[in-house]
Amino acid sequence: MPRIKFLTNNHKEIEVEENANLLRSSMRYEGGIPFRCGGGICGTCKCKIEEGLENLDKIKKKEYERLGEDLIQQGYRLACQTFVLGDVSVSWDAEAAARREARLKEAREKRKRRAI
Ligand code: FES
Repeated sequence: MPRIKFLTNNHKEIEVEENANLLRSSMRYEGGIPFRCGGGICGTCKCKIEEGLENLDKIKKKEYERLGEDLIQQGYRLACQTFVLGDVSVSWDAEAAARREARLKEAREKRKRRAI
């Protein structure tokens, strides 16, 4: 069974069924990959495959559109669009995700205040 190592989350390791979705596995086992839409639109689940890039399914059109050729060449994938066929190690920018979450929270609060 393939193993996923979440490097940004204290190198937490899990074992998954072959062809498991990377983001769903992270959600199920608290791997910590940030996410919002789950559908290849927002880009929040952008992560870098540090090891095992060859153990993933093929890159989707949505990933090319969202990430661009440069990031794809550097080993980035959208976790929600990626399926695991063998062992991989993955990292992500936790600070960027926290900043994005803070901006979204602020925008939600502004909308709430305007509605009152
Ligand atoms: S969670 Fe939005 S693109 Fe993956």
